[in-house]
Amino acid sequence: MCGIVAYIGHREAYPVILKGLKRLEYRGYDSSGVALLNEGLKVYKRKGKVAELEESLIGKDVHSASGIGHTRWATHGEPSDRNAHPHISANGRLAMIHNGIIENYNQLKHELINKGYKFTSDTDTEVLLKFIEDIQVNNKVGLEEAVRIALKRVVGAYVIVLIDQDNPDTLIAARKGSPLVIGIGKGEHFLASDASPIIEYTKEVVYVNDYELAIIKPEELVLKNLGNEKITPFIQKLDLELAKIEKGGFDHFMLKEIFEQPQTIFDCLRGRMDAREGYIRMAGVDKNIEQLKNAGRFIIIACGTSWHAALIAEYIIEELCRIPVEVEYASEFRYRNPIVNKGDVIFAVSQSGETADTLVAIERAKENGAFVFGIVNVVGSSIARISHAGAYTHAGPEIGVASTKAFTAQLAILTMIALKIAKEKGTIDQKRFMHLLSELHEIPDKVKTLLESNDSIKKLATKYKDANNALYLGRGYNFPVALEGALKLKEISYIHAEGYPAAEMKHGPIALVDENLPVVIVATKDSYHEKIVSNIQEIKARKGKVIAVITSGDKVITGLADDVIEVPEADELVAPMLSTIPLQLLAYHVGVAKGSDVDKPRNLAKSVTVE
Ligand code: AGP
Ligand code: GLU
Repeated sequence: MCGIVAYIGHREAYPVILKGLKRLEYRGYDSSGVALLNEGLKVYKRKGKVAELEESLIGKDVHSASGIGHTRWATHGEPSDRNAHPHISANGRLAMIHNGIIENYNQLKHELINKGYKFTSDTDTEVLLKFIEDIQVNNKVGLEEAVRIALKRVVGAYVIVLIDQDNPDTLIAARKGSPLVIGIGKGEHFLASDASPIIEYTKEVVYVNDYELAIIKPEELVLKNLGNEKITPFIQKLDLELAKIEKGGFDHFMLKEIFEQPQTIFDCLRGRMDAREGYIRMAGVDKNIEQLKNAGRFIIIACGTSWHAALIAEYIIEELCRIPVEVEYASEFRYRNPIVNKGDVIFAVSQSGETADTLVAIERAKENGAFVFGIVNVVGSSIARISHAGAYTHAGPEIGVASTKAFTAQLAILTMIALKIAKEKGTIDQKRFMHLLSELHEIPDKVKTLLESNDSIKKLATKYKDANNALYLGRGYNFPVALEGALKLKEISYIHAEGYPAAEMKHGPIALVDENLPVVIVATKDSYHEKIVSNIQEIKARKGKVIAVITSGDKVITGLADDVIEVPEADELVAPMLSTIPLQLLAYHVGVAKGSDVDKPRNLAKSVTVE
């Protein structure tokens, strides 16, 4: 994700853009920049927050009647001045900002290098811009036509906005897969990733659709499809207040991020696997596949929710790759004298990429000669930089302190890595490989389906919000899901909750069970199903209240439990990406019902950069 803002009209463009970028910093904040037309094209950009860009421009002549601005969430090329947007064409007459991922940028880049183009950044965005420029120059067409031709070859997601020194009264924008809103003013137009930079100037907006191109002048907005046919803009009236718009219409970032998961899991899988063709391609894995498949052991280090993802990965990797896996709390690993053998591979899992315990644990492992593979969400973060190789989860900025979309993206990445290694090692047959690829491919749509149970989970939260304690139980792949569900409830609602392997109940915790204790049981259909039914009966025999997460249509557990939450059928190996989500929603709604500050729970921080 990133934030884009553009303006053309009778106002000074720069103040409109700057204010708008600040409103969009929740979408990305690792660098920002602005392009203005003031005696030619002027581009100012730098690493860091928008406030730093603003400070750097104090005293500069930033007069311009039009401009484009960007606050970045890096996907290709680490946060830096040179990777910041806007990017500039080779002839210096065009500038462009972009939100999204150009999947075939490498191929386009090679074609352009062969034509003599040079690149000043590592981004996919610069490649697209110079691809457009090359078409404009070689096909001798206008910018609008060049954009149209270029986008027909682009694979991936984009919103792009271009400003052209040779046509100062026109901005050109296009959209596929990322959001673009155009505000209609009197003799002026505003463009942005959401309506928050626009709402104070106008409430009349057009939401641009996929494969649409916009040609914007102060007095005129023309929408066309890639076939160059005009489309009548559908003008809508904004009725949301500002705060809600920044959260995409949701009450909290946490809920917004829970609902982003169909898209974020799709983005994580996109360009890395193809269930039809039957392949997984991940640069960091492919380059190191010999080391990975011949590893004597994997050690996965992480903290909190990322540690739960690591536990699920342990089950998946051992099942598919037959490589022993140890999961370590980074905070424990770093202080003891761990045994790290040559040939061990360390995976470090972290949303922020800045968790102090994980960072130090990695250094310890490297001192012992281990190869470190980082699985991180924030591009260019410390863990990404000190790892020998890695893969980004592409979940976009996670603002809510409780990790949700980053967690399911971590599971998607770890599952793909396990499948890739198992395929290379020959520990999985083609039939099961293709089956699991297809299962992965179906996850985003299944998540979309299960999010429809949000309202019923909200009702459930009201029913159990006054509990003082809760137990979360699961078996196999769902045991770490139970741990994660308990953590979510603890950190959001402040209710004490414990996760346990369901079979472990009889070794003590069942003494806690009485009519006041809600027991959440993750019991989706899998190889443990019969056993977990017995565990439910044990709880019920002691008057415990059972809330069961079940596979849709499971009549057996529906007849036993006090409440059920249904999730679509899925192979047990990928089911955690589904069964986790009702637990995220349950924690969220209990937290809201109890009046917690859901996005910023007490005592917590989004990134624990202290020991
Ligand atoms: C999870 O909801 C918490 N916010 C916390 O446990 C978090 O997972 C942990 O601090 C690890 O953070 P990281 O993934 O950024 O390393
Ligand atoms: N892929 C582009 C980059 O990495 C845009 C990323 C974004 O959408 O923020 O610069």
